[in-house]
Amino acid sequence: MPNAFISGVGFNPASNVVKNDDLRTKYGMETDHEWIVKRTGIEERRFADEGIGPADLAVAASQDAIAKAGIKVTDIDLILFATLSPEMAFPGSGVLLQRKLGLCDAGKFIPAMDIRNQCSGFLYGLATANAFVRSGGAKHVLVVGGEVHSAALDLSTRGRTVSSLFGDAAGAVVVSATDEDRGIRGTWLGADGRHAEVLCQRVWDMTKRPYVPLNADGNGVVVPEMLYAKMDGKLVFRHAVERMITVLMQACWEHKLTPNDIDLFCFHQANLRINEYIAGQMGLPPEKVVSNIQRFGNTTAATIPSLLFEAERDGKLKPGMKVACVAFGSGFTWGCALIDW
Ligand code: UT7
Repeated sequence: MPNAFISGVGFNPASNVVKNDDLRTKYGMETDHEWIVKRTGIEERRFADEGIGPADLAVAASQDAIAKAGIKVTDIDLILFATLSPEMAFPGSGVLLQRKLGLCDAGKFIPAMDIRNQCSGFLYGLATANAFVRSGGAKHVLVVGGEVHSAALDLSTRGRTVSSLFGDAAGAVVVSATDEDRGIRGTWLGADGRHAEVLCQRVWDMTKRPYVPLNADGNGVVVPEMLYAKMDGKLVFRHAVERMITVLMQACWEHKLTPNDIDLFCFHQANLRINEYIAGQMGLPPEKVVSNIQRFGNTTAATIPSLLFEAERDGKLKPGMKVACVAFGSGFTWGCALIDW
């Protein structure tokens, strides 16, 4: 059985920098830089231009990852696209990315699968890619986490608790087969559907007839409570801390490791305070815990590939290092991956 390793990483944040003060001055949100920095660590995020969707952002990230893997785009056997902000209800962003990468023109009608596990989506994708590669079902899998949140954020004061957190970006990795003794050593995924509505964006209700209310002209009308994401932030915070610590400890336990044996921690970037708390509880040295939430906010499925990309670029992630990636998000869902880089 081959091992599966990450042969290339790419990252493409959206182009427009939106500073905390811009939320107030450009969008009219009653907020201030100090509040956002103190509660979350976020200083700025990126918003995509109108007309740009997650698959568009994913193109450059994917091409970079593919180039670094030393393969051609036509060598990709499977696309896994994790997003909570797909261009449309269906089909998903994976087939759009396939088309934008030129695979259809090249006659490469490979499968494209969409993953709907929000902030844990990238790790759910990585686990799936690992299984495909190790079982011989694919040699090179493109795993993407890409989001354009800005289109669906309530940027008025009403939505500030959620809207001040998120940014737009795409990250991508190629997971490839190798006979070398390296790569993804294990993945651990979990979910607790009891809390599905604690962090959700409904938009429609498929149990109702019609599934969105219609006005007198027969046009759909979506009220703000349905249109935008809702979150009980404090509850999410508590569960995030507990689940991320537990899944990381489980991974270490099963691989007979202590956190000291791990060289780099890539935690989902939802809130700097969550990650600092976890690092404090587990006694992790700050230099082993990378973060970029300060510059990009929470880019949901894109956070972990963005950290891998920057760590490698900055010389903090080198072959032979042991990496732990951990995420938690809506669902609730969570995951961990241990990788020998
Ligand atoms: O990746 C997805 C997973 N999500 C998370 O992991 C998020 C986890 N939760 C959190 O990060 C925190 O709960 C938040 C940062 C979202 C909120 O922090 P908090 O300390 O729980 O604040 P809060 O929601 O209890 O709000 C406290 C106050 C409220 O005002 P009142 O009701 O006390 O007058 C909010 O309206 O802060 C107000 N507030 C803001 N003020 C200025 C909320 N958002 C803002 C804002 N600017 N952007």
